[in-house]
Amino acid sequence: MRISVIGCGYLGAVHASAMAELGHEVVGVDIDAAKVAELAAGRPPFFEPGLAEILTSATASGRLRFSTDIADAADAEVHFVAVGTPQSAGTNAADLSYVDAAFAALAPHLADGALVVGKSTVPVGTASRLAELLAAVAPQAEVAWNPEFLREGFAVRDTLEPDRLVYGVRDPGGDGRAASVLDRVYRAAIEAGAPRIVTDYATAELVKVAANAFLATKISFINAMAEIADVTGADVTALADAIGHDARIGRRFLNAGVGFGGGCLPKDIRAFTARAEELGRGESLAFLREVDAINLRQRQRVVDLAVAALGGQVHRKRIAVLGVTFKPESDDVRDSPALDVAVQLKGLGADVVATDPEGIENARARHPQLDYVSSTREALRGADLVVLVTEWREYRALDPVDSARLVAGRRIIDARNVLDAAAWRAAGWELRGIGRP
Ligand code: UGA
Repeated sequence: MRISVIGCGYLGAVHASAMAELGHEVVGVDIDAAKVAELAAGRPPFFEPGLAEILTSATASGRLRFSTDIADAADAEVHFVAVGTPQSAGTNAADLSYVDAAFAALAPHLADGALVVGKSTVPVGTASRLAELLAAVAPQAEVAWNPEFLREGFAVRDTLEPDRLVYGVRDPGGDGRAASVLDRVYRAAIEAGAPRIVTDYATAELVKVAANAFLATKISFINAMAEIADVTGADVTALADAIGHDARIGRRFLNAGVGFGGGCLPKDIRAFTARAEELGRGESLAFLREVDAINLRQRQRVVDLAVAALGGQVHRKRIAVLGVTFKPESDDVRDSPALDVAVQLKGLGADVVATDPEGIENARARHPQLDYVSSTREALRGADLVVLVTEWREYRALDPVDSARLVAGRRIIDARNVLDAAAWRAAGWELRGIGRP
């Protein structure tokens, strides 16, 4: 099929490459000329495992092109809109200006029967508003909403092998045209057994934010348990293992620590709360404010543990911060708890030395005041305190005996509860986890 993808960020660049990998003819459009040039040369402008391989092969095959000119999308039968919906400056609501601009820019170029498919995460009600707008200026086209559930770090696999497909269509009981077009796009996934849910616009929009709200709630739930464990001497990891054996609860997303960050969970729960308030149902989602508050408290908790580990004297103390991205296998530092902790410690007067396998460039662009080093050993050298805040494999595998030889003081905060506490203590380290005795 001929497909366009409008917006080539973490979502769009992966979607465009994956669609070409499936055999479609794809054009990716973005207003950022530098990003388009990189992508066109087959180089991912960000770190995502497996993306370079499919991007290079698809651009070399000629099935994938990139452009800054939306007119180059005119031939496509299906247009995916994958632009960002960040938090608005000064409010909790989503900023829809990029989505609105993408629809407005596409409208004059839509062929007869074109399907415009929203992938961006939007407040409920957006799809029907945009469908009405499009009906006035491009009645030959139709709108569908097809939320994306990919995780950074697994984005290529999640796109090629989605665990479900959700189509929000204008009339779920109607002719089924939009759904059958999407079925052709996703034929490979459907044949592989991916469940497919065809529903109305509002439900599709809500599925996306409900999923992220549930995941955020699960993480804050276990972090709240960690807070109680901290004052009672209980162990939150054993608690998570024990409740996780209940299939109704499940062990995944029950890792206590410095909390969630990234470009999705934090802003999505805030935008969802703001939308509920607009709809007069603020009380229904009031708990998400608590989820957010518990989450932000974890960052403070890690800073407090660091200060306590140094006996209250942080000024001029050398602190090695391991990790700046919001999770491993990503270079994304948007709303990163790790970076937030590093910045707060620096603000308290510590000599912070931060390191990360992939995130340093993005972190430096946002926080040039921190010192960054690319090697873990260099970060550890002479440190009075080590704070592990992003659980990259390399940090999980650190050897406590070898690391002890590098530091000035054997103190470590395991803000992701991933280290073998007994082994580290046996090597003479003072180790503090989150919600662990
Ligand atoms: C999240 C969702 O998982 C995806 O399904 C969704 O498509 C995506 O947002 C989106 O809306 O685009 P992502 O932001 O890539 O994906 O990251 P997650 O794997 O969900 O992790 C989010 C944060 O939660 C990370 O900071 C991670 O460290 C933290 N986390 C995760 C915990 O603190 N504890 C856990 O047990 C699990």
